[in-house]
Amino acid sequence: MKATAVAPSNIAFTKYWGRKDEKLRLPANGSIAMCLSNLLTTTTVEFSPPLKKDQIIINGVQETGEVERVIKHLDRIRKIAKINLRAKMVSNNNFPSGTGLASSASGFAALTLAAIKAARISLSEKQVSILARQGSGSACRSIPGGFVEWLDGDSSETSHAIQIFPSNWWKIANVVAIISQKRKEVSSSIGHQAAYSSPFMTTRVANMPEKNKLIKKLIKKKDFKKFGELIEKEALEFHAITLTQNPPLIYWTPGTVLLMKLIQKWRDEGLLVYFTLDTGQDIHLICEAKSVNKVKAKLTQIEEVKDIIVNTPGDGARLSKKHLF
Ligand code: PMV
Repeated sequence: MKATAVAPSNIAFTKYWGRKDEKLRLPANGSIAMCLSNLLTTTTVEFSPPLKKDQIIINGVQETGEVERVIKHLDRIRKIAKINLRAKMVSNNNFPSGTGLASSASGFAALTLAAIKAARISLSEKQVSILARQGSGSACRSIPGGFVEWLDGDSSETSHAIQIFPSNWWKIANVVAIISQKRKEVSSSIGHQAAYSSPFMTTRVANMPEKNKLIKKLIKKKDFKKFGELIEKEALEFHAITLTQNPPLIYWTPGTVLLMKLIQKWRDEGLLVYFTLDTGQDIHLICEAKSVNKVKAKLTQIEEVKDIIVNTPGDGARLSKKHLF
C-alpha cells in the first residue's frame, strides 16, 4: 500500500488570512491563486502492518515540528478508508520551507493525494481538495492546478478549490526572490487565529467578494497592468492586517522592503513587474512571460537576493511512480 504524489505550491493573488471556523479551517474569505510549476513537494506514503507507529521524515529530518499535524491528517484518511495501519511518510521539497513559499500548501496537497492512493480509496477532485484544506487551508488550492479559486463555503463540504482557468490560459510568471532561507518565527497557522484582532479585518472581509470578482475578470481579460496593480495592493492590505493584529506580526526583513521599493522604481522606469508576498521575507515578482529575463537580470544585481526561482502557471497535484523509498 505505497503511493507517491507530487504537488505544487501556489501563490495567492487574493489572500487567505483569518478563519470563520477554526476547527474546520473555513477561511474568512474566498481567495484566488495560481499553482506554481517549479515549487514542488514529492511525498511517498506507505501503510504497512509491521509498523508500530507513524514514521514521518520531512526533508531528511525525523521528528520535525510538523509531525503532530501530519499524523492528524493521516488519521483523517485512515478514518475514511476504515484502516488502522500505521504509515511511513517521506516528503521532500525542492525549495526552502517556512520562508513564505507556501511549503504547507504543496506539502499537505502531496500528502493528501499520496495517502488517499496508498489507502486505496477513490475520491473526487473536490473531495481531495476538501481533505487537503483540513491539513493546511491553502493546500486545497494546490489540488486542481492552473488558476484556482478557493470557495470559502459555509460548511466543510462547500469549502474547496476549483480551477477557474487552465495553466496555459495566460503566459505570466512568478519570479521568486529568496531573501533568506531563515524559517519564519510565527507560522501562518498561528497568525490566522489572531487576524480578527486587527481593527481593519472586518472591513477587509466585507470587501473581499468584490475584489475576487474583479481579479477573475482581469485574469479573464488578461489585463496585466490592472491585475498587477490590484494584487500588489492586496498583498500590502494583507500585511496591514498582520502588522495591526495582536500580537503584531512583521514578516518583512530590510531586504524585503528594499526589494518592494526597487520593484516600484523598476516599474517607473518602464518594466512591468509587480510583487506579492505571504508570511515570510521572500518576494514573489509577477510579470508577463516575455519580461522574465529582464526581471531576472535586475534581481541578480541585488546583493540581498540570494536565489531566484522562475515559475510559470503549473499543474495541480498528481501521482508519480518514482517512490522516495
Ligand atoms: O495555508 P496556510 O495556513 O499556510 O496560510 C497561508 C496564508 C497566506 O500564504 C499568507 C495567504 C494565502 O492565501 O496563501
